Amino acid sequence: MIKITYDNKFNTKLVLDLEGKAKSKELELLLEKKLFSAKQGEIFVNVNLNREGTVYLALEKGLDGCHDKIRTAGFNLAKKLVQEKVSKINLDCKEEDPKLVSTLIQGILYSNYNFDKYKTTKLDKEEIEVSLLNAPKALKDKIKELEVVINGVNIARDFVNTRAIDLYPESYANEIVKLFKGSKVKVEVYDKKQIEELGMHALLAVGSGSDKEPRFVVMKYFGNSETDKHITFVGKGLTYDSGGYDLKPGKSMFDMYDDMAGSAAVVGAIKAISDMKLKANVVAVTGLVENLISGHAYKNGDIISSMKGSTIEIGSTDAEGRLTLADTIYYAATKLNSTHIIELSTLTGSVGVAFGSDIVGAIANDDDFYSKVFEAGKHVGELNWRLPITDTLKEAVKGEFADLRNSIPGGAGVITAGIFLEHFSEGVPFVHLDIASTANGGAKRYYAAGATGVGVRTLYKLVASNFCK
Ligand code: BES
Ligand code: MG
Ligand code: ZN
Repeated sequence: MIKITYDNKFNTKLVLDLEGKAKSKELELLLEKKLFSAKQGEIFVNVNLNREGTVYLALEKGLDGCHDKIRTAGFNLAKKLVQEKVSKINLDCKEEDPKLVSTLIQGILYSNYNFDKYKTTKLDKEEIEVSLLNAPKALKDKIKELEVVINGVNIARDFVNTRAIDLYPESYANEIVKLFKGSKVKVEVYDKKQIEELGMHALLAVGSGSDKEPRFVVMKYFGNSETDKHITFVGKGLTYDSGGYDLKPGKSMFDMYDDMAGSAAVVGAIKAISDMKLKANVVAVTGLVENLISGHAYKNGDIISSMKGSTIEIGSTDAEGRLTLADTIYYAATKLNSTHIIELSTLTGSVGVAFGSDIVGAIANDDDFYSKVFEAGKHVGELNWRLPITDTLKEAVKGEFADLRNSIPGGAGVITAGIFLEHFSEGVPFVHLDIASTANGGAKRYYAAGATGVGVRTLYKLVASNFCK
């Protein structure tokens, strides 16, 4: 556990040194002896056998208070404190920029996450207490909010990291119900028969190869009683994507238990929003299915229908996410009071080719809404970048013998996938975020290996800054 407290005084202090700004005899000596060079992120631990003394953390001057480098520095600092067995430390906030402190604390809190659900010997939990002296109330409130949001992030990470043998549509839907029991989030779960009644043909086609029945889950949080209108979050919920008859090679299939990361992000975000009692209305929807092979599975060349009625030619059974999302987005646009729809999905391999593993790809039909999503992402350290929609690419999405096709030749895979989805948004301001390359991976920045929970913080920030009464 990493505890942030406010009044406990310890004999070990943390000194934030903004490029040699912090003046003390000891620091001057350290610099002179070249034991410490005050470079961004550098840590020097000067403590005795009782682990009392001073810990220096260097930070670049002029960094924006929410810069990712500060989060990473906080994460590395916490790891170092554990390694050095410094478990209790003070930071005097009197002279510090509160924004910088809260961002640093965020990094420290991130160091607390490790996924050890499947280890019979659990990893040691890190025990650190950071006591912030002279913290203004606004900083304390901010840190409380950070703890709630990070809890939402970690809930999403746990869901994503849980393997498909345990997390499948029914079990995942049950977990969601459990998570929100007794809270202000009302959960509706639709089973296969009810999904059939809704006419979600595209979603059903994708799930048809699996013995596990699909589920459609709607989570409603109404924190603003003045209106029944709301923003809607949509998440891709493939609890496993084998590719179907376009079977993925084993190595590419290995990770496909994470193909519900969009879904997990919307669950984690609405959890944080409701825990913080934001005065906003938010509905989160996710269609849960498994894409497998069997005598019941959908096939290449099939032409299927959708809830909207648009017909779709199956060029690839591995372009399944957009099929499940087509019905989910259409549901959000026509069966709910959505003023805006933001959708997150591990949708294409191409997003990683274009953007690597730190940037989220975006497609939008509304400049104003997108700019809000962009600002939210930038602020929290989950940068997203918008790609253009062109008439030529809009044409490419059309089918030869059906209205649309799900696999589009000619490149620009991130864009054509987004255009396909936009077709089902019925003119509601819509943003699509492709998180295929950012949702899961090796340890980096302030993330432990495995799921990152990407999207939770963007969604939270988007609502907190733009959709509250
Ligand atoms: N779930 C995958 C996308 C993916 C790829 C996520 C790699 C994470 C890592 C998605 O369903 C998929 O298979 N997309 C295809 C689409 C193509 C067939 C048009 C892809 O990107 O190859
Ligand atoms: Mg696929
Ligand atoms: Zn997929």
